[in-house]
Amino acid sequence: MASILQSPGRLLIAFTCIFTTFMGESKVAMSVFRPSNWALAHATFYGDETASATMGGACGYGNLFQSGYGTDTAALSSRLFNNGYACGTCYQIKCYQSSACYNNVAYTTVTATNLCPPNWSEPSDDGGWCNPPRAHFDMSKPAFMKIAQWKAGIVPILYRRVPCERKGGLRFAFQGNGYWLLVYVMNVGGGGDIGSMWVRGSRTGWIQMSHNWGASYQAFATLSGQSLSFRVTSYTTKETVIAWNVAPSNWNVGLTYSSTANFR
Ligand SMILES: *[C@@H]1O[C@H](CO)[C@@H](O)[C@H](O)[C@H]1NC(C)=O
Repeated sequence: MASILQSPGRLLIAFTCIFTTFMGESKVAMSVFRPSNWALAHATFYGDETASATMGGACGYGNLFQSGYGTDTAALSSRLFNNGYACGTCYQIKCYQSSACYNNVAYTTVTATNLCPPNWSEPSDDGGWCNPPRAHFDMSKPAFMKIAQWKAGIVPILYRRVPCERKGGLRFAFQGNGYWLLVYVMNVGGGGDIGSMWVRGSRTGWIQMSHNWGASYQAFATLSGQSLSFRVTSYTTKETVIAWNVAPSNWNVGLTYSSTANFR
């Protein structure tokens, strides 16, 4: 330390490094997803304490233990689900002003993995909790039990959207065949959501994929026998990440391929 201070040349280098780092981070920070404001909604739960009922939800993540989401998940009312574009988004939820709340301050964080469909035979203020235009979270029972006594059934909540903190890179689960590639994108950091996506075979240019349902995108193209790269743009931040050569040329449907790229 002392030797750095004694040497003006080294001091300049040190300063330049700090400046460069600062500039680099501020550039990234512009596209980082920021939490939204707290808003009022209600929460219920579905399934039991094993959360088995939450597996195979409308986002297409399949077994949530295998896909890494675990039991900290929720099904969103259609208003929040946004036709599947909300799949993978993350929310802090705290129980609000109910005697069933464990703590009005503590929150838990969940990932959207499912749709809570409307039930038109029940009124939206009595049973039809997921009917439009309500914002509603039908949480896994283990997640609900972190914020409130489950016997309450339904509690008022405050929620806000937050950045998704994910370990590792984007994961791509393949379905379809050699002429129709259907890809479920999982473990998305930052905004957690996907707005558009492209695939590139080793013998093609970038091919835009169309939204299928939930968190899946498809390309009608002959891609068998080619290594595949993906370009993914966040629905919320519009930030783009490229996952180069995620799948080797002998890729197969039914397999999941991991990249090192991710959003923050
Ligand atoms: C919708 O509500 C009706 C009336 O309570 C109920 O009988 C029915 O099972 C509900 N449908 C679903 C899919 O939950």
